[in-house]
Amino acid sequence: MIGRRGSSTWSPAQAASSLAGLAFLERALAHILAGWAVKMPAFEAKLLFATQMHRAMERATQWRSRIHGLCHAVAVEPRLPKGWQAALKHIDASPDPEILVMAVHGMLYPRLIEMCEAHARGADADGDRASLELIASVLPALRAERRCGLSLVPWSKRARAKARMGGGTFDGLWTARQNGEPLPLEQLLWEPLDRVPAAVRPKGLRFSPSGSLGLLPADPLHNASDLAILLHKELDEEFTTLEFMARNSYEHPSMPWNFHRDIARQAFDEGRHARMIGRLMQARGVRHGQFEISTASYDGLYEFEPCQTGSRKELLWRMLIRQTFMEGLAIDHLAFDIQRRKKLAGQSDIAQVFEYILRDEVFHAQSGLRWSRELLGSDRAPLVEARREAFDYFTSRAEAARERFVMENPDAAMAELAAIEAVKAARGSKRPETPLNRIGRKQAGYGDDDIDQIVAWGFASEKPRD
Ligand SMILES: [Fe+2]
Ligand SMILES: [Fe+2]
Repeated sequence: MIGRRGSSTWSPAQAASSLAGLAFLERALAHILAGWAVKMPAFEAKLLFATQMHRAMERATQWRSRIHGLCHAVAVEPRLPKGWQAALKHIDASPDPEILVMAVHGMLYPRLIEMCEAHARGADADGDRASLELIASVLPALRAERRCGLSLVPWSKRARAKARMGGGTFDGLWTARQNGEPLPLEQLLWEPLDRVPAAVRPKGLRFSPSGSLGLLPADPLHNASDLAILLHKELDEEFTTLEFMARNSYEHPSMPWNFHRDIARQAFDEGRHARMIGRLMQARGVRHGQFEISTASYDGLYEFEPCQTGSRKELLWRMLIRQTFMEGLAIDHLAFDIQRRKKLAGQSDIAQVFEYILRDEVFHAQSGLRWSRELLGSDRAPLVEARREAFDYFTSRAEAARERFVMENPDAAMAELAAIEAVKAARGSKRPETPLNRIGRKQAGYGDDDIDQIVAWGFASEKPRD
């Protein structure tokens, strides 16, 4: 229960200033989690970070909307002193995952909860009722998120992690947060503290080497062990996309607010997909890690020689390849696979999971198209050209890695060739023909020029138009 103070309550300006602190804390929380998801070795931690990142971003949006409600009439925007940034940046600079969790869930969440409680005590019950209602709905979620986060670090390790944190530093910075130049909320975020070119995984797993074709399931539609490989690969894709998207947000804090909302939503979606694929695997006795793990969809898309590291062009190429090319293909493949699996016995659970995933992919591709266009300007033509340029570089680099792999691992390369032959034999030596999912692609916002490009490249075939 939150106790209320006597009769004196906050003015609209005082309430807006309190909400500014809440909005910034939530936005900074999303920023920190976005940067760290890929650096957390445990898969469970990655899923939790994606969920909490999305929730924090949505709450930050709600706090911002309340601030707007209180400030729009007088054309004032609340600012916060730069000291707030120093305190939050200190958490982001944590030296390892355990300390980060103890800092986020052991120190930041309690501050967030205290600030909500303070607002509930200070706000005018009628004048600022919308904020009070929001706080009442948010508080239980914040408390639960704090507990879930802390559960990532076992009790036995918490005291040691705390001792390594030098707890006084954050407390000191928190106390001093009202110092420094006042800045608008969006300018208080900080530039990325690091680059992470390779996704972190738990120790002891086996990985597909660079240039390898990875595991090649010959007949994942009818053969149980090939289906196991397909689901295993799919799970890796979900994790790497979650991490990749989160880094795109973290590494570009000055992109518009709605860009970060879209990305947080996608990271959360990819986490839900991972859970659903995990369920399908569990039902079939497949364990993540029983085959080689691949992080290629993160490591192989993180940077490109023609793009300056950390640049907007690098971000554009990442989005063009992952979101507008690969997730576009997923829109075609999933629709085709769902149709085929629905006709097979014992696969309705897979078809249903893929149906949910397909629905999300349309939004992911849509967001990729929207923000790529934003980076390029409103004209459509450069998008197709930029995609071609990025794709040409991406494929030539993959071919070079393949050549190196074949030279250095002739036996493994021969085994892969045999696997490719098995794939061809399974489909009767015909070229794979994925029909274009025109409705899905149109719903995602692909234009005829985008569709012509993908058909010309041979990744999907046009069915006769009816
Ligand atoms: Fe996904
Ligand atoms: Fe996706």
